[in-house]
Amino acid sequence: MKGLILAGGKGTRLRPLTYTSAKQLVPVANKPILFYAIEALKEAGITDLGIIVGETRQEVISTTGDGSRWGVRITYIPQEAPLGLAHAVKTAQSYLGEEPFVMFLGDNLVKGGIVNFVRKFESSRPNALILLCRVPNPQEFGVAELEGGRVVRLVEKPRQPKSDLALVGVYLFDRHIFEAIDHIKPSWRGELEITDAIQYLLEAGYVVEPHMVEGWWKDTGKWEDLLEANRLVLEDLQPAMAGELLGNSCLEGRVAVEEGSRIIDSTIRGPVAIGRGATIVNSYIGPFTSLGDGVTVENSEIEHSIVMAGSTVRNLGARLEGSLIGKDVEVARNDGKPRAYRLMVGDNSRIGLL
Ligand code: TTP
Repeated sequence: MKGLILAGGKGTRLRPLTYTSAKQLVPVANKPILFYAIEALKEAGITDLGIIVGETRQEVISTTGDGSRWGVRITYIPQEAPLGLAHAVKTAQSYLGEEPFVMFLGDNLVKGGIVNFVRKFESSRPNALILLCRVPNPQEFGVAELEGGRVVRLVEKPRQPKSDLALVGVYLFDRHIFEAIDHIKPSWRGELEITDAIQYLLEAGYVVEPHMVEGWWKDTGKWEDLLEANRLVLEDLQPAMAGELLGNSCLEGRVAVEEGSRIIDSTIRGPVAIGRGATIVNSYIGPFTSLGDGVTVENSEIEHSIVMAGSTVRNLGARLEGSLIGKDVEVARNDGKPRAYRLMVGDNSRIGLL
């Protein structure tokens, strides 16, 4: 069995980060989201992985490599344009061949892995196995309706949902999915939809079975969900202190600090992950925060946020909270005269001022 990870796409909902970077490489607890998918597939015994790449292919390839660090073989498959999830699968047809495969959306995180999901497919051999998760707001997802342990219908963002079972971005298909993709037409948004392909399987009499997610699932396509995924992953953080704790500093709760980082006269209240070579001076870093490599925080308070590599937060007059800060960004209080906000901000950014 092979794995197919989708790491192309447009990423419009994560602008401005996705103007310069792949959304699948945004760090959650200081590890790119994509790496969690690779690890989940490896854990399920799948070592031949195809990764669909789009405009951000250079960055995805240089960050991820050939897979040897995980003991897997990665083949990169360029998609000509982000024409939909089913289009991405079709693009990979010659790589996938006749074998069943797991399709994994590269921006989805599934706690609890996919080992039992793959086992269930192997024991009951349906034509497709879809992963489902109960959600409080099914009208915002693709939703599955079940009867007698089988899937009978999929509905995209139903106004009046008949179930609360959302489709998770992990699927297992046999070769009939290619027949299905050949029969569907682009949707109103111009994309070949994987839900339409699965609906074709159902209507053509193929067997589509459900499997419930174990643990939790997060689709990190939006920034609020990214912060929530960061919170959920940090809940299980293993404490480790490889940096230096200097002056009047203290670490409380689960805190992981990598080599070369210096914490000076500061309080870190976990769960918090701090990358390599970071400097925290006279500051408070609160729960559910990830600071990337080389981040500097001075005279500031940060909580429930992701600050990516190389960024600086300095002299803030209030706590920075629920924020997603990209790479090499500077957020600093401006004490010069006239007292004014001075911004240099990319398109589609969001700024909350006091
Ligand atoms: P989506 O989040 O559904 O789509 P998107 O990346 O275009 O984002 P947005 O809606 O914010 O514009 O994609 C899910 C995953 O599949 C994600 O990792 C990107 C990937 N993908 C492809 O590889 N090829 C595609 O054609 C599409 C649409 C998505």
